Amino acid sequence: MTNPKTLVVYYSRTGHTEAVAHEIARQTAADIEPIDAGAFAKGGLWYFRAAWAAWRGRDVSIAPHVHAPRNYDLVVIAGPVWMGRPCPPVRAYLRDHAADLPAVAFALTHGGGDVTPVIKTLGAAAGKAPVAQLTCSEGERKSGAEAEKIARFVDTLAPPNKTAA
Ligand SMILES: Cc1cc2nc3c(=O)[nH]c(=O)nc-3n(C[C@H](O)[C@H](O)[C@H](O)COP(=O)(O)O)c2cc1C
Repeated sequence: MTNPKTLVVYYSRTGHTEAVAHEIARQTAADIEPIDAGAFAKGGLWYFRAAWAAWRGRDVSIAPHVHAPRNYDLVVIAGPVWMGRPCPPVRAYLRDHAADLPAVAFALTHGGGDVTPVIKTLGAAAGKAPVAQLTCSEGERKSGAEAEKIARFVDTLAPPNKTAA
């Protein structure tokens, strides 16, 4: 079995998702690309503006992609949970690319609590259920449990669309 050709795309405001995304990319030998939302969620009172935008489901602009998702077998989409929702830049990526996506997997970072609804929202926006999902809380990051979860997640990224003859 060959490994799927994988792209990891991520948005990270404070670095947690960025670290998770890079570790996934390292372990899967994937290409990796940040979602560039420009000035969104930067500057004074950014937390409140970000929270408000997430809560309202606000549309944001993101820069054009570098790597075309259609050139991959699998796209891992990673981002933080904001206000019990996907953050707006990740929603924007799915808005712009849902039609071009191969198999998808989701990697969410969060402060704690139940993020199942966020996975469902992302699946609906992508138009397909994920082949795998990873959630990493701030507590798991601090305790070291995150590394084990990432390794298990990577193990579940079986080649999509390849069944035994
Ligand atoms: C505006 C905002 C809203 C957040 N809302 C939630 C939330 O509803 N639930 C939660 O578990 N964590 C929440 N968090 C915490 C982040 O999801 C968590 O710290 C995440 O790991 C940050 O990822 P990043 O460092 O890649 O930006 C929120 C953080 C921000 C900035």
